[in-house]
Amino acid sequence: MDRVARRASEQGETARANRSWWDAAAGSYLAEHGDFLGDADFVWGPEGLTETDAGLLGDVRGQRVLEVGAGAAQCSRWLAGQGASPVALDLSGEMLRHGRELGAAAGVAVPLVQADVARLPFAAGSFDAVCSAYGGLPFVADSLAAHREVARVVRRGGRWVFSVTHPLRWALPDDPGPEGLVVRHSYFDRTPYVEQDESGSATYVEHHRTLGDRVRELTAAGFRLVDLVEPEWPDDNDRTWGARSPLRGRLVPGTAIFVCVKG
Ligand SMILES: C[S@@+](CC[C@H](N)C(=O)[O-])C[C@H]1O[C@@H](n2cnc3c(N)ncnc32)[C@H](O)[C@@H]1O
Repeated sequence: MDRVARRASEQGETARANRSWWDAAAGSYLAEHGDFLGDADFVWGPEGLTETDAGLLGDVRGQRVLEVGAGAAQCSRWLAGQGASPVALDLSGEMLRHGRELGAAAGVAVPLVQADVARLPFAAGSFDAVCSAYGGLPFVADSLAAHREVARVVRRGGRWVFSVTHPLRWALPDDPGPEGLVVRHSYFDRTPYVEQDESGSATYVEHHRTLGDRVRELTAAGFRLVDLVEPEWPDDNDRTWGARSPLRGRLVPGTAIFVCVKG
């Protein structure tokens, strides 16, 4: 049995696998990336673009903001510091437990909710904006349904801003070095990336959508795309994060940030 495969994985299997994976990985993930992310900062991705510099959510003061796939809720604490009323939602109880501890240490407590982005436990129009830095969207089988859930809970005119791995990266091997610069896979192959145990049960799943897929899904869910940000790799960032590195970052985009408004 191959431990890494490209095969189908429906939402139930995907959510079960990713909840367990993020529960188990929460401590090591935060030990490796926590300093870079900051305890109360809003970082959109491995390039290090911050919301302080990008301003993609606009003025959040006084706004009710839902962060989905919040992990340890660093972005939500930043939002609270800007005068917003954030709610941090994540699938992983362990990530949220770390979020509670970090919040207590930083003296910034934000509401934490354990749920799946595909089934948001909020009433229609509960939020002025919804955001996500690499949370949720790469990990759902039915991303159109997730966008529709976000569209349901955000008010008309509210923003939905989220970052994901740039779709182009799905054509390249998971290698931060020169080997990672050779196209080895079809960009157009939407088959999920699945890590699995010896019996074939998924232990981690990511789902791919092309840029066109994302735009069509957002439009179908009732959003208008107002910007697509592809952060460039800054000269002063010498970190390697998985397959992301200064070498690759200077040549091809690693992150795509979709800035949308509910019509
Ligand atoms: C890469 S982390 C991003 C979190 C944070 N922004 C950061 O940079 O550390 C991905 C997060 O998405 C969460 N996640 C995965 N699938 C999810 C789902 N279906 N619904 C909500 N959150 C999910 C994981 O538990 C994890 O905390």
